[in-house]
Amino acid sequence: MGRRKKNIVLEKIKLTGAGSLGKVIAKSSGEKIIFTKNGVPGDIVDIRVKRKRKSYIEGDIIKIHKHSTKRDKPKCSHFELCGGCSWQNMKYENQIIYKENEVLENFKRISKIIPEKKLPIIKSDKKYYYRNKMEFSFSNSRWITKQEINSKEEIIDKNALGFHKSGMWSKVIDIDKCFLQTNISNKIRNFIKHKALELNLKFFDLVKQNGDLRNLMIRTTTTKEIMVLIQFFNYSKNAKNLLMSLKQNFNEITSIMYVINKKRNDTIYDLKPLCFSGNTFIEEKIDGLSFRISAKSFFQTNSFQTNKLYNIVKRLAKLKENDVVYDLYCGTGTISLFLSKNVKKIIGIETVEEAVSSAKSNAKINNISNCEFICGDVKDIINKPIKGYEHPDIIIVDPPRNGLEKSVIESITKLSPKKIIYVSCNSSTQARDINEFKNLYKLKVSQAIDMFPQTYHVENVVLLDKI
Ligand SMILES: C[S@@+](CC[C@H](N)C(=O)[O-])C[C@H]1O[C@@H](n2cnc3c(N)ncnc32)[C@H](O)[C@@H]1O
Repeated sequence: MGRRKKNIVLEKIKLTGAGSLGKVIAKSSGEKIIFTKNGVPGDIVDIRVKRKRKSYIEGDIIKIHKHSTKRDKPKCSHFELCGGCSWQNMKYENQIIYKENEVLENFKRISKIIPEKKLPIIKSDKKYYYRNKMEFSFSNSRWITKQEINSKEEIIDKNALGFHKSGMWSKVIDIDKCFLQTNISNKIRNFIKHKALELNLKFFDLVKQNGDLRNLMIRTTTTKEIMVLIQFFNYSKNAKNLLMSLKQNFNEITSIMYVINKKRNDTIYDLKPLCFSGNTFIEEKIDGLSFRISAKSFFQTNSFQTNKLYNIVKRLAKLKENDVVYDLYCGTGTISLFLSKNVKKIIGIETVEEAVSSAKSNAKINNISNCEFICGDVKDIINKPIKGYEHPDIIIVDPPRNGLEKSVIESITKLSPKKIIYVSCNSSTQARDINEFKNLYKLKVSQAIDMFPQTYHVENVVLLDKI
């Protein structure tokens, strides 16, 4: 171990695994676990220690002695700085292995229950350009790179339209090309940035909380519809001119929306997006069904994998024509509508009002009449009987990352469905929740699916059968 005062370097450490939150793992000679970033299992590296804890060490790689055979060349020029797709430096076939491993490790470590059957992870055909929704922030204080500082050149343009630097809420990395959404998204974003500067619109000052432009959301569909939503702090004549020139320059955009946000945070869930031109929604097609997606509605961010994800749910559910199904956290009703023709009734529950009205109109445009959607917090709806459908045969849950609340687990247990299908984008909270069901339900099957190539995120679906 090389050592100077406050500068401990662990030399020639072999990275052995990749795990939770994309951290890369190694063991030091003292057998403490080391967590680091930006390496690939198989690399031999020197690590500068940042933090020492009782059972682990955190550090930064400062030198790579030997590159792993699992390494790949990152496509993106913003890689490492951006941190959005932190596994771009790893070959896809290895990303998949570590994702599958992560799910199993969480079951072993957190719920201490192993699924009876683990089906192989479903890969993504598209490794890049798969996201249908991206959000970018405007800032008048962009992240300045070390090279720029070292060049000693005067920095004239400090504006950015891009992603927040991880851990630095007030700094935004200016993005020129992102490989996660189709290329039209790059064209639209770069056009908006340049036009906004030309119109002298002020990019948001996150510290002083002023400026004209706050946020940009671009949503695309596989049917080639595009929604652009700009979040303004001040909506002036030039803001209108920006939207107008967007309309004039991009025929492809089918929905231009905007929202005025004077709050301190940039969530729009409590605000009303307004339509500047086109529709208030975009329409996606999955398995022959049409789904209208409005500005505030959740939709799976990888449309190319969504069909496969919902087919896992369908396969595990083994639906019968007399089944009554609850689809909890149903978003725009996609799972409900996808399964509707195989069952008697589906009740979808969702808290975002706009998503519920999209779900209802999605049922209508697809001529589906056996789905009912209720707006409200799952915990408040399922703790009382749902008239006419008090005894669901199957409950599907697809909660946000933080998983199920205790009271929801209690209500589900009381409802006592024959099967629970749990779809999750966070296998650690999923494992925690499964543990709560263990006295009454058996973990039968688990199948992961990659919805997020180049990142450490993984979606996992499990089937719990009543014992
Ligand atoms: C992961 S998404 C799942 C959406 C849907 N199953 C799909 O595949 O598109 C989670 C959804 O849960 C909703 N949600 C979050 N907390 C909720 C709560 N307490 N009660 C009801 N819905 C909630 C969110 O608005 C979001 O639409």
